[in-house]
Amino acid sequence: MHILLLNSSIKKKKSRSLTIAHSFIEGLKVNEEIKEQIEVEEVCLYEKNIKECLCCYYCWREDSEGNCIQKDDMSELLMKYISYDIVIWSFPLLFYGFPAVMKKFIERSLPLYTSHKYVEGNEYIQARRYTKLVDRRELFISTCGLPVRNNNYEPVDEMLRLMFHDKAERIYCTQGTLFEEKRFDKIVNRYLLAVKEAGRYYSLEDGILPKYKDRLSQPFLPEELYADAANHNKTWLNRQNVNSLN
Ligand SMILES: Cc1cc2nc3c(=O)[nH]c(=O)nc-3n(C[C@H](O)[C@H](O)[C@H](O)COP(=O)(O)O)c2cc1C
Repeated sequence: MHILLLNSSIKKKKSRSLTIAHSFIEGLKVNEEIKEQIEVEEVCLYEKNIKECLCCYYCWREDSEGNCIQKDDMSELLMKYISYDIVIWSFPLLFYGFPAVMKKFIERSLPLYTSHKYVEGNEYIQARRYTKLVDRRELFISTCGLPVRNNNYEPVDEMLRLMFHDKAERIYCTQGTLFEEKRFDKIVNRYLLAVKEAGRYYSLEDGILPKYKDRLSQPFLPEELYADAANHNKTWLNRQNVNSLN
């Protein structure tokens, strides 16, 4: 079982979202359905050479055979993306959306589609070039800084619905600032244990069990308490020293 972990945080290994993704993968390693010969490849998108999509539609021409005209790391990344059994995206929420590098990766995934469009229900769908990708579940693991999901994750949620329909699994962890506060280690570690359990009982067919979905969407602290602490604790502000990120 091959797992591809795509890290879209500029903080690279220091990403909070990546910490959660690692706990989930720890759980997959003891998952009865998946654990056999598990291999994980972690890719930090900010370490890759990913150019912009030129919107030239070369990849949709018959003679291109689904290849992109840009020469960079994307062709290799898309090969991995197609062939792996489980894909986990790890990203911080930035201005209610995906980080730029992740959006760039998504735009460069145009070769995974064909020019054919069809209607399903009341939506136009761009046809997939690879049937495997139609049914494969993908996991989106993210942290953010605000106290709650509402009026925050909706744009990402809507994009995931349009792109992956019911195949996008989500773990959104609000109040991410607590990851760097020693005094909250206990509750953060409890959360990470629940993430590991969600990985342990993850099903390729049905995704994350509903009880873990509920548990993992609970905020660490009551929202007013978190907001107040974040507004008044100067040590949180001091941590914004850019040099400490690498
Ligand atoms: C430019 C920028 C924009 C952000 N926008 C949001 C946002 O829209 N909503 C939110 O809750 N947090 C926002 N945050 C906070 C990050 O999502 C938060 O720090 C996250 O936990 C970082 O994850 P990482 O450690 O995986 O990179 C933003 C942070 C930055 C630097």
